[in-house]
Amino acid sequence: MPRAHITLDKQAVIAPVRRRTFGSFVEHLGRCVYTGLYEPEHPSANDDGFRMDVVELVRELGATTIRYPGGNFVSGFRWEDSIGPRDKRPVRRDLAWHALESNQIGLDEFARWLKLTDSEMMLAVNLGTRGILPALDLLEYANHPHGTALSDLRIANGTPQPHNVRMWCLGNEMDGPWQTGYMTADDYGKLAARTAAAMKAADKDLELVACGSSGSGMPTFGDWERTVLEHTYDHVDYISCHAYYQEHDGDLGSFLASATDMDYFIDTVVATADHVGYKKRSSKKINISFDEWNVWYQKEHHASDEVNDEWRHAPRQLEDLYTTADAVVVGNLLMTLLKHSDRVTSASLAQLVNVIAPIMTEPGGPAWRQTTFHPFSITSRLAHGNVIRPHIQTPLYDTARHGETPVIDAIATTDDDHTAIFLVNRDLHEAAHITIDTRSLNTTHITEATTLSHPDTHAKNTLEQPNRVAPTRNTTARLSNTALTITLPPVSWTAIALH
Ligand code: AHR
Repeated sequence: MPRAHITLDKQAVIAPVRRRTFGSFVEHLGRCVYTGLYEPEHPSANDDGFRMDVVELVRELGATTIRYPGGNFVSGFRWEDSIGPRDKRPVRRDLAWHALESNQIGLDEFARWLKLTDSEMMLAVNLGTRGILPALDLLEYANHPHGTALSDLRIANGTPQPHNVRMWCLGNEMDGPWQTGYMTADDYGKLAARTAAAMKAADKDLELVACGSSGSGMPTFGDWERTVLEHTYDHVDYISCHAYYQEHDGDLGSFLASATDMDYFIDTVVATADHVGYKKRSSKKINISFDEWNVWYQKEHHASDEVNDEWRHAPRQLEDLYTTADAVVVGNLLMTLLKHSDRVTSASLAQLVNVIAPIMTEPGGPAWRQTTFHPFSITSRLAHGNVIRPHIQTPLYDTARHGETPVIDAIATTDDDHTAIFLVNRDLHEAAHITIDTRSLNTTHITEATTLSHPDTHAKNTLEQPNRVAPTRNTTARLSNTALTITLPPVSWTAIALH
């Protein structure tokens, strides 16, 4: 049985837990919005047509900041189409996902939905096919209190209070050839800098996100960030990171090590941003908005893509069903984001409902939790106070994609009364015995010890069996004066809460 020893020191503070780490993402894509969030004919729908069964699950998930309305979708989006009387809103073609957009849900409706879920809006502006003026107009419509053409239009449309959106993405994945209107780093950097400067002239306290690379595998990765930040450094607050992982060709060992790649990605972007900052003799630090991350079986999607010559409204797209192993990886990726809370101060699980999502719905039917729902929801509920860096002594294993990788990974958070420890066991076959030195924390008892695992690492939750994979109490956890011991099943994610 693999054994690992972990020492927790409450002085080893990385940074405060950032509530925005538990953000998510709603794109006008597939059935995320239509029959996901919004289905007026559904038995649980409220007066606005929002599914309240989904609202309940979003609240349970603990999602904080929600990025909207894309994604690739935003690069063809005219925000003006989606405001005002619904019967006047045009139907448009969405070239990014080859679908029809009815515009029945727009900024004002989405803001009402966010109030139900108690979450914050993060907006993206279209820099793919549009530019500075539409971005400024959207900002005026969304945030200006009253007394201007567009703020008064918002009021006339039934929203008297400004939305007061703080975080704004300057476009989406502008390095990707799939992006409508994609650009070189130099062209995008100049446009993003000018757009950011203009937006900050309207409101200097906005938090602006420049597009980083669409993934660390992009050929321009590194150079893209450097060039974009050379143009935008003084005007923006964040550079974005996007990363999607999947199990390739049955190589579960490498897949379970995905978090080590995310770790490298973050370190590289931080180093690049700081390099630009040093060159500029700037005391300012650029943080990371990890505003798309998840497991996504992209190969399968492209192979079995339902997109064809038909233009359909809200087709089933990117509806991945997640396994136990996927949930362990998602839990581990979230641990990695916490580990970098000094520089990753905002993140968005992509996406929220139906589209590569923790929550699934059936039109006219139930809403249910995917396997990946559980580690996210438990971490969001338990992580408070400061993130502390554990000292981990663990065996290593070999992976084809990521080299030697620790079998056990862990991160912890603590405030005055509560400590939470999050752990993964990446061993494919064996349970691991863990000893955790908790002396510096003065913990008296375990309030919760929960593990997500399944004898079949590829077991999924489905419409027919929505609770096949669910967290269970880990009955092996024991706390003495000095140490906590616990056994972690193979391919598992665990959370322990201590008082
Ligand atoms: O989240 C799905 C898509 O992935 C987003 O639209 C895009 O930004 C990324 O490529």
